[in-house]
Amino acid sequence: MINSLQLPSHIEQEIEQLAKQQQQPLCAYLYDLNALESHIKGMRHVLPKNVELFYAAKANPSEPILRTLAPYVDGFEAASGGELNHLHQQRLNKPLIFGGPGKMPSELEQAIELDVDAIHVESITELQRIGALTQKLGQSASIFLRMNIDIGDITLSKLAMGGKPTPFGLDEAELDNAIMLLRDYPLIQLKGFHFHLMSHQLDVSRHLALMERYFQVVKGWKQKYTLDELTINLGGGMGINYQDPKQHFPWEEFCDKLEFLIAKEQMQNWLLRFECGRYISAPCGYYVMEVLDIKQNLGENFVIARGGTHHFRTPAAQNHDHPFVVLHNQQRPKISNPIGHTTATLVGQLCTPKDVLARNQVIERIDIGDYVVFTLTGAYAWNISHQNFLMHEPPLFHYF
Ligand SMILES: Cc1ncc(COP(=O)(O)O)c(C=O)c1O
Repeated sequence: MINSLQLPSHIEQEIEQLAKQQQQPLCAYLYDLNALESHIKGMRHVLPKNVELFYAAKANPSEPILRTLAPYVDGFEAASGGELNHLHQQRLNKPLIFGGPGKMPSELEQAIELDVDAIHVESITELQRIGALTQKLGQSASIFLRMNIDIGDITLSKLAMGGKPTPFGLDEAELDNAIMLLRDYPLIQLKGFHFHLMSHQLDVSRHLALMERYFQVVKGWKQKYTLDELTINLGGGMGINYQDPKQHFPWEEFCDKLEFLIAKEQMQNWLLRFECGRYISAPCGYYVMEVLDIKQNLGENFVIARGGTHHFRTPAAQNHDHPFVVLHNQQRPKISNPIGHTTATLVGQLCTPKDVLARNQVIERIDIGDYVVFTLTGAYAWNISHQNFLMHEPPLFHYF
């Protein structure tokens, strides 16, 4: 379902085709939309019946990605007024949900006017703002309360948004207050609770333990506050393993076990929802950099290629060596400086020592004009990068 460190032959062909059309050394993002389609279909296929799958657009909001996903997802999550507007303009014909801390009153108003499926409320202040807006506009709003809870001895992943002090969600101690406030605002409808406590989750049993905890706390709140039917948004966070691409989060195994957990916890009649980003769109992307120079500096090899972290900040943001494949250019440039059976650091064109994509990597053979193809670049890549730094040209974008 997910790519490994061998490039599929059709990707090699796409890169070679694209390179032939260029006057300049190649620098491009390629997105395999067929692979994305079969991946999302596969994810959907194994989901338990009462679980919805939303796409968190922050992972990659580009139009072809959204359009490919739209038939297979239950909706899209926006995390800013900008994303909400973008998703709305795409006319994807799917429900939109709106989350994120520090929403401005104008963004909340925009969400109410667009009649989004739900606003994820991050604080009491936000609840008061929404209440005042519903009264001003004479329009109702559906909300989920985003909660941050104590998760006891469940281990956090490397990127935690909750289960410890963070700016995200309401503390459980504020729930009484939130429920009381809701009585003052009859135009607000509490549709459920939202949790997104961690990203980069690779461990099924830890994630299931988290789901179980969510089920139990929400059942407790439903009883305590005599609430009507509720949906639980279980967040996203299923991880991509950049160090060992054969060990991504095992989605099928997770869904299988989730079904048992749902039965055990008697949650079959609840509506549950995921809002995944990285796990959906990372595997379909490739970032290709053509090698411009190879040099030795104080005893180490450096491969300098066209592009860098200003296009592809993921390795710097995650502080990891990003997986890649070297694709040899059959049309050799005139100037050559091959290295092989050695190690090298792969860098971009920026004049900062932080512009490193992979450090001290074992290299079988590489030469000027070859392509370094970074895999798993379909999520949190181009759109999280400092694109204007040094005014280099943007990469090409090729969707196929
Ligand atoms: C509230 C919320 N939901 C969903 C996501 C998507 O997470 P991921 O891409 O790890 O699935 C994020 C990511 O930061 C988030 O903050």
